[in-house]
Amino acid sequence: MFSFSNVGGSSLIDELMELTSQSLCELEIKEHFNIIKEIGRGKYGRVLLVTHRWTPMALKVLPKASTKLQGFLREYCISLHLSCHPCIVGLFGIAFQSNEHYGFAQELVTGRDLFAIIQPRVGIPECAVKRCAVQISCALEFIHQHGLVHRDIKPENVLLLDTQCRRVKLADFGLTQRRGTFIRFISGTLPYMAPELCIMVLEEGQKEVTVPPLRVEPTLDTFAFAVLLFCILTGFFPWERCNDSDDFYEEFSDWRRSPKKTPVPSQWKRFTPVCMQMFRRMLALDSSERCSVGEVKGYVGKDWVRAKDANGWVGENGEVSTSTPSPCRSSYSDEQ
Ligand SMILES: Nc1ncnc2c1ncn2[C@@H]1O[C@H](COP(=O)(O)OP(=O)(O)O)[C@@H](O)[C@H]1O
Ligand SMILES: [Mg+2]
Repeated sequence: MFSFSNVGGSSLIDELMELTSQSLCELEIKEHFNIIKEIGRGKYGRVLLVTHRWTPMALKVLPKASTKLQGFLREYCISLHLSCHPCIVGLFGIAFQSNEHYGFAQELVTGRDLFAIIQPRVGIPECAVKRCAVQISCALEFIHQHGLVHRDIKPENVLLLDTQCRRVKLADFGLTQRRGTFIRFISGTLPYMAPELCIMVLEEGQKEVTVPPLRVEPTLDTFAFAVLLFCILTGFFPWERCNDSDDFYEEFSDWRRSPKKTPVPSQWKRFTPVCMQMFRRMLALDSSERCSVGEVKGYVGKDWVRAKDANGWVGENGEVSTSTPSPCRSSYSDEQ
């Protein structure tokens, strides 16, 4: 298997990017594709349902005004290289630029994305969550084996082929980086971001952050994957951001530091002890103690959510929890 790690100062990804830039064709989207409608929009680009003759495709288009050529080439080359995996969105090997956009053609995934099927404050059924968990875990293992870190694991980037999540595909490699790359700062946080990433925020007016650059590691994906699982099991975020000004995070981190002495935070009481063990391993505050994404597969044979009675979630000692943080919504952040 090809890995994207450095060999002799250059890497396979750099070479693919160079070759793609030399052969990037110029075309006007409307002249080559029949645009049916917009089917998705993220922070960076739009996705259009188009047909080419009789073939439907999903075109990801990124405005040149806000996209660097190198960033586009990296996203396209990484996506193409990983697209052979059954749990990763397929690509047609067509990349182009128009006057105003860079674009590439993806397999059309006709279901919606995972975010769209989360019922606020309810989530999705446990059996569907477990089907997603196994497939996302396989996709991430494959990405990590290639020396890459996805870095944008969230429900919006998981595409569904059916509403029961029997087949799902991971998409959006716009933030993917090689393991070992250094991040100097980020300019906003998301609930999916690990604590070591959240301290890299450049506050308004600040020129640089006070902490040393952060090495990108697969454990960033492990953390985001756990937050995704929490979101789809509950329909709300476990916290807004991983810093101590967030009460929900503080409650969790207290429990994570000393689980025997601290009660399980109320919004986590719905989970079985074995499920909490999984979350404890995936959400270790210290990244060196976090498990790999593949470990999730070892937990899918066990129950994750406790039975519910008329008053709420029944805890181990019969106590009931009712408080919840904010419901799932889409949110974005910038970084460098
Ligand atoms: N191949 C596809 N088929 C169908 N819908 C897609 C496809 N790729 C992306 N989408 C939809 O478009 C949205 C935005 O695409 P994405 O690649 O995540 O862009 P961004 O980088 O801006 O976040 C996704 O959240 C999803 O809903
Ligand atoms: Mg996206």
